[in-house]
Amino acid sequence: MNLFVVDDARCTRCGACVEECPARIIALTDRRSLPETVRGGAELCITCGHCVAVCPYGALSLAAMPVENCPVITGDPLNPDQAERFLRARRSIRGYKKQPVDRAIIERLIDIARHAPSGHNSQPIEWLVVHSPGETRRLAGIVIDWMRIILRDFPEQARAVHMDLVIAGWELGVDAVLRDAPHLVICHAPSDNMMARTAGSIALAYLELAAPAMGMGTCWAGFFDAALGLYPPLAEAIGLPDGHAGFGAVMLGHPRHRYHRLPQRNPAKIIWK
Ligand SMILES: Cc1cc2nc3c(=O)[nH]c(=O)nc-3n(C[C@H](O)[C@H](O)[C@H](O)COP(=O)(O)O)c2cc1C
Repeated sequence: MNLFVVDDARCTRCGACVEECPARIIALTDRRSLPETVRGGAELCITCGHCVAVCPYGALSLAAMPVENCPVITGDPLNPDQAERFLRARRSIRGYKKQPVDRAIIERLIDIARHAPSGHNSQPIEWLVVHSPGETRRLAGIVIDWMRIILRDFPEQARAVHMDLVIAGWELGVDAVLRDAPHLVICHAPSDNMMARTAGSIALAYLELAAPAMGMGTCWAGFFDAALGLYPPLAEAIGLPDGHAGFGAVMLGHPRHRYHRLPQRNPAKIIWK
């Protein structure tokens, strides 16, 4: 089976697919022939779809990615001010309404996040959504169990990230682990996947950036993520598939408050060469 097919009537032999293929496996020998796969090229294709996406004429389809499945990009891109405001207005949300979030909204957010880049276009990330009421509270309690052990065995390290205060808060009914969020979205993948940590972080960054457009708020669950990697009872309580590990998690819910200003951050330290 051919790696891709080219519509002779549409292809102008412009060569964009040849130039943009990251694996350099498309060749155009002369202006009368169509682009074709170089010998042995099929094994090197990472199915990134750049050949389909860059063709201005919709002439090329990968066998695994028909051009009809790749929507035309419409509308204007964000201008620089809009892009800056969009990115800077994202906030970590730590106050949530009790109201649960519709599964359809979470599915849409994950559907956006799955388009995040991944090394070799390997798309290693799978998703686990904690949706049942009360479940995040139970999981936060298991993280607290882990923190108690860390505080006992490594008091200095535990205090450095305020685990002592988080535990004290929990005993007073304050959840500083998962912030009483109604939901938790967890990235997971085979534990030996070398691409997964970065892929999970970027995918969750996409999800976090998309969430406010759907009226949702998120916050990275760093304590939870650390415990998931280090404390087997938490992984058991969640029920990740066998051989899988967590690669990042965010809390999710309807925000109680909205933000009205963009906070300051440290100036960038840049080395120019
Ligand atoms: C990897 C990572 C882990 C984090 N873990 C937590 C966490 O466990 N609890 C929490 O309240 N915030 C957590 N945060 C949120 C940071 O505190 C927050 O991003 C930072 O204070 C800046 O605020 P902003 O996100 O609103 O710009 C985490 C952020 C990152 C990137």
